[in-house]
Amino acid sequence: MKKTVYILSAMLLALTLLSGICWAADKGPEEIVLKSTVDPAKKAKPAFFPHALHQEKFDCATCHHGKDADGKQVAYTEGQKIEKCDACHNTKAGMTEKLDTFKEAAHARCKVCHKKLKKEGKDAGPTKCNGCHKKDLK
Ligand code: HEC
Ligand code: HEC
Ligand code: HEC
Ligand code: HEC
Repeated sequence: MKKTVYILSAMLLALTLLSGICWAADKGPEEIVLKSTVDPAKKAKPAFFPHALHQEKFDCATCHHGKDADGKQVAYTEGQKIEKCDACHNTKAGMTEKLDTFKEAAHARCKVCHKKLKKEGKDAGPTKCNGCHKKDLK
C-alpha cells in the first residue's frame, strides 16, 4: 500500500515537471527583422515580422516544420527545435529550386496567406512590397 502511494506521487511529480517544461517552450522574439543570411541578395531587403501578433492567431505548425533524413518536410511537433528558415531554405541544402532561398520560402508562406485572407475579405497582413519590406529596416 505504502509503495503504491509512493509510486503514484512520484508519477504525479514527474507529470508536473514535464508539463512545466512544455509550458515554458521558447516562443522566440515578439518582433523580428527577417534577413537572408546564408545566401543573401546583393542588395539586402529586410522584412518586418510581428511574430507575437501571428502567434495569437495561428498555430506554430502554420509556419514551423522540420526535415527528415531523406530531406522531406516533417510536420511541427510541440517542443521541437526551431531553426531559422534559411538553415534549410538555401541553395546548398538540396531543396527544390522553387524553395531554395529564404525569399521564396517566405513569399510562399507570408505573401500567400495575406493574399488569400484579403481575397476572402478577412483581416489580412500587407500584400504590397513595402508593407513587409518597410523603409529603413536594418
Ligand atoms: C506566421 C508564422 C509563424 C508562426 C505562427 C509562428 N512562428 Fe515562430 N518564427 C517565424 C519566423 C518567420 C521566424 C524567424 C525565422 C528566421 O529567422 O529565419 C520565427 C522564429 C521563431 C523562433 C526563433 C528561432 C531562431 O533560432 O531564431 C522561435 C523559438 C519560434 N519562432 C517559436 C515559435 C512558436 C513556439 C510558435 C507557436 C506558439 C511560433 N513560433 C509561431 C514564424 C512563425
Ligand atoms: C529543418 C529544415 C527546414 C526549416 C528550418 C524550414 N523548412 Fe520549410 N521546408 C522544408 C522542407 C524539407 C520542405 C519540403 C520541400 C519540398 O517539398 O521540396 C519545406 C517546405 C516549405 C514550404 C512549401 C510547402 C508548404 O509547407 O507550404 C514553405 C512555404 C516553407 N517550407 C516555408 C518555411 C518557412 C517560412 C520557414 C521558417 C519559418 C521554414 N520553411 C523552415 C524544410 C525546412
Ligand atoms: C497564415 C496566415 C499568415 C501568415 C503565414 C503570415 N501572416 Fe502576416 N498577417 C496575417 C494576418 C491575419 C495579419 C493581420 C493581423 C491584424 O491586423 O490583426 C497579418 C499581419 C502582418 C503584418 C502587419 C502587422 C501590422 O502591425 O499591421 C506584417 C508586417 C506581416 N503580417 C508580415 C508577415 C511576414 C513577414 C510573414 C512571414 C514570415 C507573415 N506575415 C506570415 C496572416 C499571416
Ligand atoms: C508578406 C510580407 C512580404 C511581402 C508583401 C513581400 N516580401 Fe519580399 N520577403 C519577405 C521575407 C520575409 C523575405 C525573407 C527575408 C529577407 O531577406 O527579407 C523576403 C525576401 C525578399 C527578397 C530577398 C532579399 C535577400 O536579401 O535575399 C527580395 C528581393 C524581395 N523579398 C522582394 C520583394 C518584392 C519586390 C516584393 C513586392 C512585389 C516583396 N518582396 C513583397 C516578405 C515579404
